Amino acid sequence: MTTPGLDALLAAKEMVLVCGSGGVGKTTTAAAMGLQAACELGGRVLVLTVDPARRLADALGLGAAGLGNTEVRLESSHLGSKIRGELWMAMLDTKASWDELVVRHAPDAATREAILANPLYRNITSRFVHSHEYIVMERLHELHASGRYDLVIVDTPPSRHALDILDAPARMQDFFGSRLLRWLTVPYRSRLFTAASKPFYQVADRILGSNFLKDVAEFFVLFQQMEAGFVRRARETEGMLADARTTFVVVTTLEAAPSTEARFLVSELQRRALPLGAVVVNRVLPTSLRSASARAAASQMVERAGEVAAPLAALVDSDPDTVERVLREVGSKFHDFGVVAARQAEREAELSAVCPLVVSVPWIDPSGDELATLSALGSALWGD
Ligand SMILES: Nc1ncnc2c1ncn2[C@@H]1O[C@H](COP(=O)(O)OP(=O)(O)OP(=O)(O)O)[C@@H](O)[C@H]1O
Ligand SMILES: [Mg+2]
Repeated sequence: MTTPGLDALLAAKEMVLVCGSGGVGKTTTAAAMGLQAACELGGRVLVLTVDPARRLADALGLGAAGLGNTEVRLESSHLGSKIRGELWMAMLDTKASWDELVVRHAPDAATREAILANPLYRNITSRFVHSHEYIVMERLHELHASGRYDLVIVDTPPSRHALDILDAPARMQDFFGSRLLRWLTVPYRSRLFTAASKPFYQVADRILGSNFLKDVAEFFVLFQQMEAGFVRRARETEGMLADARTTFVVVTTLEAAPSTEARFLVSELQRRALPLGAVVVNRVLPTSLRSASARAAASQMVERAGEVAAPLAALVDSDPDTVERVLREVGSKFHDFGVVAARQAEREAELSAVCPLVVSVPWIDPSGDELATLSALGSALWGD
């Protein structure tokens, strides 16, 4: 029995998390997958992306306004007649998402306004480590609960570590139960402590800027009022990630470092019992580079360049010395690419050993039309 392809996988799922190390093609793959799913599977497909390149946004017809937190439906007329379903896109804006979260979950208007006006809160994206990964999870929770889409494809941020995103819900739960949080909120909760520690706060204010610690304490006290909701949603999100309707797609290139990282990611997903669906190997060199006869011809071109150059020079209207140089250069470059392609094949085989579905996507010349490139990538993802 052959392993079902990415088309069958996506047809059976509601949420796809596209992860992998930096620069391997996660955003491009998520967009191509979304386009292909909307064309071939139909339904309402949302790609929740992170910082898509200008070229990609233009290709999708997102216009000058670009993409923000609000989901926009891409024009079917722009995407071509093949599209059966609806393709929606949104870009995760961390700041706007936090604001929406506070507005949605603050217990009352006064708390909401106090949080939004708190100076620490206003810096939260820079001060709260992993704030981005966390907000992705909140957004997924909200989208999932809304039931607005048949398929949600999530592009993940280029975090230092691809696992950060998986740890986000647990980290939030730990945080709310942590000593750090209790410690930070003490000055607000205890008058005694405030009096006793006044000199400390005065020094701290001088060093950190006035009211810094007070702002911190106030922020966390306010935030704690939303604790129950945060913890509940974090738990539900964890459940959602492990659900059979969710799948993880690990994107990688076949260079040494990303493929090692991809294998690590695969083993971590398996260890955490999270549903690994596929590994997409991106920017793969053509298999023709590995053909024994082609490599033999390239060697011959280098070895017998002088001999071959003479008759060829007349044909291409050049001199034999120039043609000889070109032949040597082309032959040896072909050989080098063949070596890289052979190494890529070994790494692909290593990945196949740990994941039943490995989809190979070729390197596509980026100078062409971006939308056509996306379609070509989509077809490759579908195994066409
Ligand atoms: N199959 C491909 N062939 C040629 N170029 C590609 C291919 N896939 C992606 N690229 C190019 O590689 C670059 C990086 O791709 P992309 O932005 O999708 O990576 P990413 O993993 O999302 O990066 P980051 O981790 O920074 O978010 C882009 O310029 C993109 O156009
Ligand atoms: Mg990206």
